[in-house]
Amino acid sequence: MNNSTIAIYPGSFDPITLGHLDIITRGSNLFDSVIVAVLSNPTKQPLFTVEKRIAQIKQCTINLPNVEVDSFAGLTVEYAKIKGAKILLRGLRVLSDFEKELQMAHTNKTLSEDIETIFLATAKEYSFLSSSVVKEIAQFGGEISHLVPMDIVNDIYSYYQK
Ligand code: PNS
Repeated sequence: MNNSTIAIYPGSFDPITLGHLDIITRGSNLFDSVIVAVLSNPTKQPLFTVEKRIAQIKQCTINLPNVEVDSFAGLTVEYAKIKGAKILLRGLRVLSDFEKELQMAHTNKTLSEDIETIFLATAKEYSFLSSSVVKEIAQFGGEISHLVPMDIVNDIYSYYQK
């Protein structure tokens, strides 16, 4: 029997931030493998395509051998089942995250009893950080190099210089 612990870290990652990368890194130290799963959501107009986001995350996690990057559509718990994962990993930044995250964890539990959501407290230096904050700053040409992995800084500025 394969007892390896696989955690799915689902999200939009549009774009990936240093807060996400911190959760991925710490998750990779806790679990045998972490699958970063980019949600393909046709109802949202993203900055980057799913393929581009996957490439960006792969580049930022190249030094983490037990991290895989993939995409999914539909329900996270169904994707987790396909991957043989029983853990959903999420970061919690501030109290305002808690309500949405708890609702999501409880909803997922009603859909699949044996899949657990595990929360990691986001590193305090990134507690204010979100992909939206990055986009807000980048569209006005502000500094984002302290907010996102170095590898993707130029991708983000290029998007707004189009
Ligand atoms: O990075 P985000 O946008 O906060 O991630 C949200 C995400 C992708 C984890 C969430 O929207 C999700 O799991 N969507 C898939 C649909 C689903 O499974 N819904 C049921 C739980 S409410």
